[in-house]
Amino acid sequence: MTDLTITSVSRESRIFKPPAEFKGQANLGSFAAYRKLYAESVNAPEKFWARQAKEHLLWRKPFKSVLRWKLPHSKWFSGGYLNLSENCLDRHLGTHRENKAAIIFEGEPGDIRTLTYRQLHREVCKFANVLESLGLKKGDRAAIYMPMVPEAAVAMLACARLGVVHTVIFGGFSSEAIKDRVNDCQARLIITADGGWRRGRIIELKGSVDRALPNTPSVEHVIVLRRCGNEIAMAAGRDLWWHDLMARAPDLHKARAHESETPLFILYTSGSTGKPKGVLHTTAGYLLGVTMTTKYVFDLKDADIYWCTADIGWVTGHSYVVYGPLASGATVLMYEGAPNHPEPDRFWDIIDRHGVTIFYTAPTAIRAFMRWGDDYVNRHRLRSLRLLGTVGEPINPEAWMWYHRTIGKKRCPIVDTWWQTETGAIMVTPLPGVTPTKPGSATLPFFGIVPKVVDEAGHEVPRNTGGRFVLTRPWPSMLRTLWGDDERFKRQYWSELPGMYFTGDGARQDKDGYFWIVGRIDDVLNVAGHRIGTAEVESALVSHHSVAEAAVVGRPDDLKGQALVAFVTLKAGIPPGGALKEELRNHVAKEIGSLAKPDTIRFAAGLPKTRSGKIMRRILKEIAAGGDVKGDTTTLEDFSVVATLQQAEE
Ligand code: PRX
Repeated sequence: MTDLTITSVSRESRIFKPPAEFKGQANLGSFAAYRKLYAESVNAPEKFWARQAKEHLLWRKPFKSVLRWKLPHSKWFSGGYLNLSENCLDRHLGTHRENKAAIIFEGEPGDIRTLTYRQLHREVCKFANVLESLGLKKGDRAAIYMPMVPEAAVAMLACARLGVVHTVIFGGFSSEAIKDRVNDCQARLIITADGGWRRGRIIELKGSVDRALPNTPSVEHVIVLRRCGNEIAMAAGRDLWWHDLMARAPDLHKARAHESETPLFILYTSGSTGKPKGVLHTTAGYLLGVTMTTKYVFDLKDADIYWCTADIGWVTGHSYVVYGPLASGATVLMYEGAPNHPEPDRFWDIIDRHGVTIFYTAPTAIRAFMRWGDDYVNRHRLRSLRLLGTVGEPINPEAWMWYHRTIGKKRCPIVDTWWQTETGAIMVTPLPGVTPTKPGSATLPFFGIVPKVVDEAGHEVPRNTGGRFVLTRPWPSMLRTLWGDDERFKRQYWSELPGMYFTGDGARQDKDGYFWIVGRIDDVLNVAGHRIGTAEVESALVSHHSVAEAAVVGRPDDLKGQALVAFVTLKAGIPPGGALKEELRNHVAKEIGSLAKPDTIRFAAGLPKTRSGKIMRRILKEIAAGGDVKGDTTTLEDFSVVATLQQAEE
């Protein structure tokens, strides 16, 4: 933890009551009902969770205990058996949902495909048979590196059906990142595509996989979906076409039940060291978390067309594109491409054409829409929308108001949902039709969640004071450990403030008990809604032969929330220059992915350090933001470094 100064300057005072019309039809109809259920969920948690688990999940064998808690390890619903893919698919067959659209897919080029629950079930059964025919079994790991197409969901659900642990790797990550993740979890299989469409161009996914493969000895096979038709290399015996395998696969697959704590997926996320962490989620608790939040936070109804714009490469795509909505029998809209292709009104066009009713996106996207201008929005009616959501970073009140007025036409409640890869499901959020909202606040905790804002010693701070944001009780969808590194799991989340889960975020609670999340206070940045560890970018930079040392910090950015600024010292004799800056940016893209490219690189003769050699990031942050260096600099080893840095050109 470095340089902790949590200040929260926002003093937003506007309050928006739930619209009467929405309230009348909401899944939970009153604030009093929320209060009552919340009180029960924290006063008698085991009773509450047991009832919810029975109500929301389809069990093959009932659980014996609700929670076994030996801090920081939890076991939820032990002894219970269920199948997650059965919960998302088979349970809807034979009901009114059987022939309902499960996924409405729109590709970037404009191709549209609908899969009903029955059809999706059939595809998943076939693909589960494919995986079994390749020898994959429960507990094995499979990596998924795919565009946003229905087959990505099919692959995830087929893995879940078998108990094969999937790790989805975001399509924007580089071959180096694929290699690290595949090796860390020792995946036997990679499921990918020839490419995916993005702004009219093909992202060559199989090409990236090919560059990783010489260094991923655990991989036995690569299954390749033909999406773009671009030319790719197929290694005989190792690489197999999706369509060939599926053509031969039987379309029935009997799902076996798995114990509640069966590992479901690993999702790598940035932490404060150079190595991404493999967050592990398990079956029953995770499914309960995402199902309940889908019902209450998105107020889901059978008639809804629900669209969460997240990529399946992120946790939002796991929980709120695939598992939560499908377990709830929703119709999910899935869009492959960019929001501004062919024009910046693509999203609004999609909403009107498909009649989207619930729309869930990220503040960074909202700020981009604002920048592109209202004209693009106003070409469309957006009359079908009834509920809006945001996730991924704090939303500035200005963007919230724009969303409310220009997209929601003042009629749609906005749910600002706070959660993390580690929490699995939404933790702090308004319930639409229930919770009065304040622009910029994620408001109040979901059922069973007890967040607090505490000081360094773990004591709750007074209202309206900034502090560390913690969760003080275990919850069903919590991460169980970090894959292969339980020590890091303990250290990262549970050691700084004993007895509580530390989120890494700073927050304040206002007089009404509403939470205002300020953002990360560890060495993790939130760039355009993506979590990027500064240490990861630093280690990518120093792996370049010209670089001696690098320090990466965030600077406030109107569009992306935060932008990456890298301070780089070069090895002796290497001349600085614009070309080298570009080379270093591209080097980071190669090592991690273009999402981690520094926005600015500043060459420096030296970095500000303490006498013990620790880089003083607080100072770099102030310099990056263009301000004066305030606060204590007495621990600096060499003060002249700061003056030189301030003079250094951008
Ligand atoms: O800093 C918080 C921010 O995103 C972090 C979690 O990132 P990730 O694991 O990638 O998951 C993103 C999607 C769930 C948090 O620690 N964050 C997420 N949602 C919000 C938020 N910050 C403020 N308000 C939110 N609604």
